[in-house]
Amino acid sequence: MSNMFDEMMGNDKIAIFKDKKFLDHKYIPRKLPHRLEQVKLIAKYWIEALRNTSPTNITIYGKTGTGKTATAKYAMKELKESSNAKDVFIRTEYIRCTDYTTEYQVIVELCQRLGKNVPDLGWTKSQVMRAFKDIFRRNAFGKNMILIVILDEIDILLEKDGDGILYNLTRTDNVSIVSISNYIDFKKYIGPRVSSSLCDREIAFHPYNAQQLIDILEERAEMSFNENTYDNEVISLCAAFAARDEGDARYALNLLKTAGEIAFENENEKITPNNVHEAKDRIEHNTITDIIVNLPIQQQRILEALLDLTKKNEEITSGKLYDTYLEICKGDSGVSYRRIFDLINQLELLGILSTNTISKGRGKGRTNIISLQCDCNIIEDTLILL
Ligand SMILES: Nc1ncnc2c1ncn2[C@@H]1O[C@H](COP(=O)(O)OP(=O)(O)OP(=O)(O)O)[C@@H](O)[C@H]1O
Ligand SMILES: [Mg+2]
Repeated sequence: MSNMFDEMMGNDKIAIFKDKKFLDHKYIPRKLPHRLEQVKLIAKYWIEALRNTSPTNITIYGKTGTGKTATAKYAMKELKESSNAKDVFIRTEYIRCTDYTTEYQVIVELCQRLGKNVPDLGWTKSQVMRAFKDIFRRNAFGKNMILIVILDEIDILLEKDGDGILYNLTRTDNVSIVSISNYIDFKKYIGPRVSSSLCDREIAFHPYNAQQLIDILEERAEMSFNENTYDNEVISLCAAFAARDEGDARYALNLLKTAGEIAFENENEKITPNNVHEAKDRIEHNTITDIIVNLPIQQQRILEALLDLTKKNEEITSGKLYDTYLEICKGDSGVSYRRIFDLINQLELLGILSTNTISKGRGKGRTNIISLQCDCNIIEDTLILL
């Protein structure tokens, strides 16, 4: 019998993908359509490093999937290439603050990457900080080293561990910082003494519109799919869905990849617009399922109550929702009526439900009407699994 993998590999009919890695979220594209302006701004500040002075600090913010990480890494690669050919000593270090969530961890990591022998644990913060500052005192290779640190998803670190990291980095000579955040208001975590020494320039990344997403997808589709496996319609549909959502390029790429996978699974020769619709359902299903599975039990119960009432087509007030919730708790102690508003708010932030305050008429006060924002079936399927 022939080998099943060889058979599949040789089957032209199902060879939708030429190379799937170009649709992977980890792939750093060689071109960044519609981010030229931002790349140039970063370069304008970083060029100082090539002149042997430490660059102005930069803050990048924008919603998810707007190319912040890709752009920063792209600029980093360009600077490395340029500095290699020159008589300067520049290091750029990329730190994702979801991996290093405290000031201590970040500084230890930086020391280690820069060749200092610092243990992961055991040293005090000031010992670690001294070792870090030492690196810049010693004039490695006889030249002044300039370090550019990119702190991606910095809001996570700031919220958890305060602004000490920025305080210390801004007070180390020859260190320049790039902070990247999803939230415009992340600076609320930065105190005035740090703000004043940060002196940063801000670069905003706006959501992509449908046409911009088409340009991004076209590049990647050409590298990833075999010829004649997709039409423009498929690309525009992915772009349209993503633009309508949040202008999120990651989502657009994920849609395109998933549509390709569905076409492949069905042994189609081509990706169809219908595959894109199926991909959208599959991705949504997965995300909502993930969210629900990971909710605390009380919120899952509220969701169950909301589902019951939605199926009965009732107008759902917080009082009614609370009663149904208590029935579901069946004597098991539930949370108080007051607490339920927090839980409802959190579910609203996750996009699972929405609330609408309406007035009950003159002098009768106001009430909250709650409605489910996602497909009943997905919620039901997931809750049954729990
Ligand atoms: N202008 C662009 N050209 C090509 N690909 C892009 C562009 N912008 C984003 N992408 C791709 O979209 C995906 C998401 O981009 P990226 O990770 O940079 O977003 P982000 O703004 O950092 O999002 P998050 O806030 O969620 O971290 C990546 O796969 C990236 O390669
Ligand atoms: Mg990012």
